[in-house]
Amino acid sequence: MNKKVYVGMSADLVHPGHMNILKVASELGEVTVGLLTDKAIASYKRLPYMTYEQRKAVIENIKGVAEVIPQHTLDYRPNLEALRPDIVVHGDDWREGVQAKTRQQVIDTLAKWGGELVEPSYTDGISSTQLNRSLKEIGTTPDIRRARLKRLIDAKPIVRIMESHNALSGLIVENVKADNGLEYDGMWSSSLTDSTSKGKPDIEAVDVSARITTINEIFEVTTKPMIYDADTGGIAEHFAFTVRTLERTGISAVIIEDKTGLKKNSLFGNDVAQTQDTIENFCQKIQMGKKAQVTDDFMIIARIESLILEAGMDDALSRANAYIKAGADGIMIHSRQCEPDEVLEFCRIFREKHTHTPIVVVPTSYNQITAKELSDAGVNVVIYANHMLRAAYPGMMDTAKSILENDRSFEAEKNLLSIKKILDLIPGTR
Ligand code: SPV
Ligand code: MG
Repeated sequence: MNKKVYVGMSADLVHPGHMNILKVASELGEVTVGLLTDKAIASYKRLPYMTYEQRKAVIENIKGVAEVIPQHTLDYRPNLEALRPDIVVHGDDWREGVQAKTRQQVIDTLAKWGGELVEPSYTDGISSTQLNRSLKEIGTTPDIRRARLKRLIDAKPIVRIMESHNALSGLIVENVKADNGLEYDGMWSSSLTDSTSKGKPDIEAVDVSARITTINEIFEVTTKPMIYDADTGGIAEHFAFTVRTLERTGISAVIIEDKTGLKKNSLFGNDVAQTQDTIENFCQKIQMGKKAQVTDDFMIIARIESLILEAGMDDALSRANAYIKAGADGIMIHSRQCEPDEVLEFCRIFREKHTHTPIVVVPTSYNQITAKELSDAGVNVVIYANHMLRAAYPGMMDTAKSILENDRSFEAEKNLLSIKKILDLIPGTR
């Protein structure tokens, strides 16, 4: 009888290494490919370039592949238990490193029914990590970039977004990696930092076209998705045009806040009376935006200012229900308090009714809470809304002062980015 052979793979960028594995597998029996879902891949590395459906279409048309099924976790065991294959085939590159544990689990599971692991030698010189690096150099398209945010929200426990106000800060968000492998998932175009970097107050004084110019510069050198802060969105008729512009540029989502009149930044206190829009007006704005939208990927997220304006939790919750009914794809709940309590309470009550609607938060004031804790409370997207700009300013200020005080730049030099690092940072400088 034909043996059952199982191969787990991500197959984002199919290369001769994959073909070798599949060839070996098909010579051993009937091949089922367990194709890792976006969620399974995002649990240990970057979201794949192609969607599950696109990857499946490629793999199921390769000679010798009888069937493609989803593998929902990095852990092979659930699929192995269900299929009880005679053989699992995997490249021998997983004997060491992050996958060594997974490998051992496969061996132990197969042992239950006398199955065997076959490990052809890994095809050297080609790895998805290297191909990913090349992809960054090739860049992306507006369509692919735009679609990434929804995919990330579906695939990850929490999506981490960092503010970016010019191409250089965009490059940092694109490339920075923590020692534990974590990366930012995307960028925030902040009205506060866009206006501050232009020396203007955060009162909707920088028009959309000026901001799009900055964003195009950022997009020229990055591939990650962006969420756009559109303040109040302006009047509903104008918001419809803004949606089209943002969508065409490749932005994934817009957030509009339910304030009205001259908008001031939410973190600065209520010295100037700020008024909240009526639910009716704001719902109409959401509806007009949704009607203007061309693709399924773009998201309109409604930002609720009830807690900022001290209108209370009930007001925040009833607005959330109304905005979702009007078509909002997600809710941002904002707070100016130093403790996260009111945001957490909102999330708890909101989640009872809306189990899947994305929740977005901006924990600038309640900055002790971790992204993990926010995720556990049901938050889907965390935005660090102004930190790149606020980090840059003190550095520039200190250097400018130091050169004056010392009448030379020698003392400042130790705190500066070296010229050599600029060469490393900006591709093509050499
Ligand atoms: C921004 O970054 O401009 C925001 C978030 O709107 S906040 O400053 O917290 O209001
Ligand atoms: Mg803003």
